[in-house]
Amino acid sequence: KLKIVTIGGGSSYTPELIDGFIKRYDELPVTDFYLLDIEEGREKLEIVGKLAQRMVAQAGIPMNIHLTLDREAALKDADFVTTQLRVGFLDARINDEKIPLKYGVLGQETTGPGGFMKAQRTIPVLLDICKAMEKWCPNAWLINFTNPAGIVTEAITRHSAIKTIGICSGANSMMMDIAKAYDVRKADINARIIGLNHLIFADKIYVKGDDCTDDFIEKLAVGSANNSLKNIPDIGFTARFARALHMYPISYLKYYFLTREMTETAIRDSANKGTRGEQTREIERKLFELYQDPNLNHKPKELEQRGGAWYSDTACSIISSIFNDKKEVHVVNTVNNGATPDLPDHVTLETNAVIDKNGAHPLAYGRLPVKIRGLIQSVKAYEELTVEAAVTGDYATALLALSINPIVPSAAIAEQILDEYLEVNHAYLPQY
Ligand code: G6P
Ligand code: MN
Repeated sequence: KLKIVTIGGGSSYTPELIDGFIKRYDELPVTDFYLLDIEEGREKLEIVGKLAQRMVAQAGIPMNIHLTLDREAALKDADFVTTQLRVGFLDARINDEKIPLKYGVLGQETTGPGGFMKAQRTIPVLLDICKAMEKWCPNAWLINFTNPAGIVTEAITRHSAIKTIGICSGANSMMMDIAKAYDVRKADINARIIGLNHLIFADKIYVKGDDCTDDFIEKLAVGSANNSLKNIPDIGFTARFARALHMYPISYLKYYFLTREMTETAIRDSANKGTRGEQTREIERKLFELYQDPNLNHKPKELEQRGGAWYSDTACSIISSIFNDKKEVHVVNTVNNGATPDLPDHVTLETNAVIDKNGAHPLAYGRLPVKIRGLIQSVKAYEELTVEAAVTGDYATALLALSINPIVPSAAIAEQILDEYLEVNHAYLPQY
């Protein structure tokens, strides 16, 4: 018996996840798959859950897909719990994006103020889920995809005894882009990665075991390779900067190194085609239309328009590495524990780790190169304060968190954004 629970089961990403489990059924013979959601998500759960049932029937595997709103029934004796929920749904994301833009500050769901606000809504819910897990499945693994995944993982590792790993589709899509540039399979690529969630750098890139770092950096410099996360506007770094940095940065790093250009683009996009949240609302509407078709029994191609395309590759391979004690190396969010002495031991980071049945064991990285050290340390400090604010609801801590975020240009603006945020999010902030 192998029981998996996905919280936020009504998400448009569910076919992605189910597809990943179907592909890996031989190594992960899931007997019971619970898709759990809340009352407000009932309709979506019905639609996407029925598609999930058609997908396993089509694949001819004996995996029982249960749709439920009952947390206890879902969690009881679970082996793995995954989360992909969005507190306040897309409306809350759109507020997160739009409010900072009024003040000329980047509006993005995980980087800058948006990530801060999303964390305030999400952390209390995730810690509550952990409490329920302590009761119903204390030995289960919590594989968290809920954003801001790095900050949420920081909160869980500090404030709960539940075993957890934070995951992101970003590193996997960087590997896919490297593989594409060399016309090889993703399995032929290895990269050393260090940083925080949505703030990672690959500083060593190996193709079939050969060090191709210099060559790949040159491809980035001349624009013949890029990172194609669908949710991030495709503004390139200059060739000189790409060569100077001499690391492969995840696209999210453009928000830090090209803050002004990216913010201007976000303001323009918001006026013309809508913020990314507004765009995804439209993508989701179309996805759910497709999902309703009783003849559809596979993951539709259209799901690739989402930034989290292929996230099941990450989620399922990590779960399999735990379940089968494989000792594979994956890029995950986990506790530093000495991997780099340039961050406190107890904070989480995103880096390569050996994954076995006891969890994630990060590989030793050593000192952070000075060119990336300051950014990583200051964003980590912001993340620590963000967690503290989310747990205590303390206004001063919240204000400090936002004020020290490198993307927020002024403490006075931080205050204005914070006040507007707290007002529109009132219903989701029991701690404030
Ligand atoms: C990337 C990130 C995810 C994020 C997603 C947003 O893949 O790794 O953490 O949720 O993009 O995509 P969306 O389609 O919702 O804008
Ligand atoms: Mn991510």
